Amino acid sequence: MDMVRQRLPIVAIDGPVGSGKSTVARLLADRLGFLYIDTGAMYRAAAWKALREGMDLEDREAVGALMERTQIELEQAGSRVRVRCDGQDISAEIRSPEVSRATSAVADHPRVRSRLVEMQREMGRRGGVVMEGRDIGTVVFPEAQVKVYLDATAEQRARRRTEELEASGMAVSYEDTLRDLLERDRRDRTRDVGALRIAEEATVIDSSAASAEEVTDRIESLVRRLQVEERSDRI
Ligand code: DC
Repeated sequence: MDMVRQRLPIVAIDGPVGSGKSTVARLLADRLGFLYIDTGAMYRAAAWKALREGMDLEDREAVGALMERTQIELEQAGSRVRVRCDGQDISAEIRSPEVSRATSAVADHPRVRSRLVEMQREMGRRGGVVMEGRDIGTVVFPEAQVKVYLDATAEQRARRRTEELEASGMAVSYEDTLRDLLERDRRDRTRDVGALRIAEEATVIDSSAASAEEVTDRIESLVRRLQVEERSDRI
């Protein structure tokens, strides 16, 4: 079993807020029987804890030190992921706009990033994972066999985010969501460590006009092609 697992690839999916990464990564992991790892949820859990402790979110040292005494776990629950922080299920709380804004600040801190990147490498070490975030193909697993950068227009992404938040029972407006998203984009693209950019050799997919199924089909074909190439290499 171990030997088989070691051969399974790592699929890295990066992209901005609302590009459809989570839906596509989850669908793909389901189809391939891979583990789905939502790294954004880990940054969100860190921010949730910093908020709960009433910390100054811009204080690099304090927030960095907090990570040493914080336990974050991702647990697959059917096709959903349950997020636990120090044992407490915070899966719903971490999706609020307040936590989203705080996460953007907390994710800037190098000590937070190095701790979470270390955990992510450990989770993906044996392959057979679909990992999504901002820096998976550039920092966490630059050697991933399949790297995808998913993009869409800001307007399309804001529409998607608004629908998602409304579906989970939150009252939000499209205008506020778009403003938040543009601010998070700016921070995501300009942070000193782990900034969002297209990894070398990444396949760029524009999801503006494509359904989640169509985008998943394309990535799945990249993975299947790789598996065929590997098999023919061995013959
Ligand atoms: O994908 P998401 O919206 O759940 O991510 C939440 C925040 O975490 C977002 O502001 C970017 C940040 N993030 C990051 O810096 N690096 C990652 N690998 C994943 C998320």
